[in-house]
Amino acid sequence: MSTEIAASDPSLRPSVPRTRVAAAADDSLPGGKIDTRTVGQVTVADAVMTARRVNVHYGDKHAVKDVSLDIGRNAVIALIGPSGCGKSTFLRCLNRMNDTIDTAVVDGAITLDGVDIYERRQDVVQLRARVGMVFQKPNPFPKSIYENIAYGPRIHGLAANRAELDEVVQTSLQKAGLWEEVKDRLDHPGTGLSGGQQQRLCIARAIAVDPEVILMDEPCSALDPRSTARIEETIRELRSDVSVVIVTHNMQQARRVSDQTGFYLNGDLVEYGDTERVFTAPTSKETADYVAGAFG
Ligand SMILES: Nc1ncnc2c1ncn2[C@@H]1O[C@H](COP(=O)(O)OP(=O)(O)O)[C@@H](O)[C@H]1O
Ligand SMILES: [Mg+2]
Repeated sequence: MSTEIAASDPSLRPSVPRTRVAAAADDSLPGGKIDTRTVGQVTVADAVMTARRVNVHYGDKHAVKDVSLDIGRNAVIALIGPSGCGKSTFLRCLNRMNDTIDTAVVDGAITLDGVDIYERRQDVVQLRARVGMVFQKPNPFPKSIYENIAYGPRIHGLAANRAELDEVVQTSLQKAGLWEEVKDRLDHPGTGLSGGQQQRLCIARAIAVDPEVILMDEPCSALDPRSTARIEETIRELRSDVSVVIVTHNMQQARRVSDQTGFYLNGDLVEYGDTERVFTAPTSKETADYVAGAFG
């Protein structure tokens, strides 16, 4: 892998596992499988990912505390809460991005399609294709629009020839809502696009390797309202192909795009459930205060 590409996308950097993972004893099944029937904090019928008793420490700092939740297939999950409450840290557990942070220690069990993603045999590059990531600041590769999308499918062997690769590039850009704007300049540099277009290019790049889940950490916070609306539309459309977990500080955005919402406070997942219910009839006082704009 070229260093310039690894430099522009941290999810492609080699990863040194610094995790110690203890699956909850009752949850372990032979072959690294985790029994997803075990009732965690929230259990959904058809979960693509499950988290059970996930804790993250940075040295003495306990950033994520005993979080259990399920991520439904073809669902959009919003994670909200005040700055520093552990949203990004939890998100990074879902594709082992915390492996790249020296001080981070992750405990607990996280499954993708029933298999523990922290088990020794897990290929982390493969995992990050299946659980893709879009960052706050768009980070296209310093390459053409076409090559930004084609790179992943090529290294993962997802296209047998140029025609198939062209097809993957086109459908990925279409799903990200960018095709019409760039189809006549696929050979232009990705970095020449506007901020909102670059973010959709990064979404297309994640889609191109056929993921099951895409993680987005405040993907619109550097964008103007119009670009933000366009990304929100893309997120809603993506649901037919993937699950999306989006961290946002914008509660209106959470309400507009998500099916389920999780509210974090000081590392605790205080509340998790159907978005409308969380916003209109929260069970905890902290959630009620937060969604009422009382703090945060
Ligand atoms: N690399 C790190 N090293 C040490 N502490 C960190 C690191 N990243 C985050 N933290 C701390 O962990 C807590 C949760 O951070 P974070 O997950 O970034 O919160 P959020 O995304 O909700 O703003 C904060 O107190 C933050 O200061
Ligand atoms: Mg964050």
